[in-house]
Amino acid sequence: MIIGSNLMYSENLPSTNSHAASLLRNRELPEGCVIYTNYQSAGRGQAGNSWESEENKNLLISIILYPNMINPADQFQLSMVISLGICDFLQHHTDGISIKWPNDIYVNDDKIAGILIENSIMGDIIEHTIAGIGLNINQLRFISGAPNPVSLSIITGVNYDLQHCLMQLTSDLDKRYKCLISGDSDKIKSDYVSCLYRRNQLSNFRDENGLFTGCISGVSNEGRLKIELKDGSIKEYSFKEIELLHMR
Ligand code: BTN
Repeated sequence: MIIGSNLMYSENLPSTNSHAASLLRNRELPEGCVIYTNYQSAGRGQAGNSWESEENKNLLISIILYPNMINPADQFQLSMVISLGICDFLQHHTDGISIKWPNDIYVNDDKIAGILIENSIMGDIIEHTIAGIGLNINQLRFISGAPNPVSLSIITGVNYDLQHCLMQLTSDLDKRYKCLISGDSDKIKSDYVSCLYRRNQLSNFRDENGLFTGCISGVSNEGRLKIELKDGSIKEYSFKEIELLHMR
């Protein structure tokens, strides 16, 4: 076992990702080490957003990786591995799971998990990766105004044992990470693409030129989103260049 081989618990932290980064400044942590907490006072999301999580309700974890087999140009593979590990975990408990590109995990049209991957890159080497995951398990009410949060408990009505969920999640992440280590990046990419939210469904988008319709068809090796237009041509977008408009 790599992911989950070491577990480092703190009762509360500003942010597991920030804590991991500050620990790594002073010493090397074992690969696969999982830093986790029951409460973050300053949980961080993508694009400078904060991450809401009620105390003792959800999984808040950061995983330390040394993915030296990956070129920094291929770092999206890490995002795919983490996204798929979370989907594998969720599939034990519910259906309707998908990945809203680039790395939000959805159940039907609601967001159940967010991922914040922070890579330390030196030249052509990824020195370390901090893969932060916020996965909503038992929280029943969300107050931050995030558009569409959901938790496993809201979906199934079950109250989950967080420690058991953590073990199951790390085991699922470990399997996906080992797939990457063994060089099977083709399987990772094809599984990721088949999990994409609204893949092959006509959807509304906004880019710098305005509104248009198209179908999500895949991702490039660099992690750019591929959208097929009505005339059959394919456009590629980086994160922030494209917005999928909500379908409800
Ligand atoms: C997002 O969807 O915006 C990403 C959310 C990532 C949240 C997790 S919670 C554990 C880890 N520590 C943080 O401060 N953020 C990530």
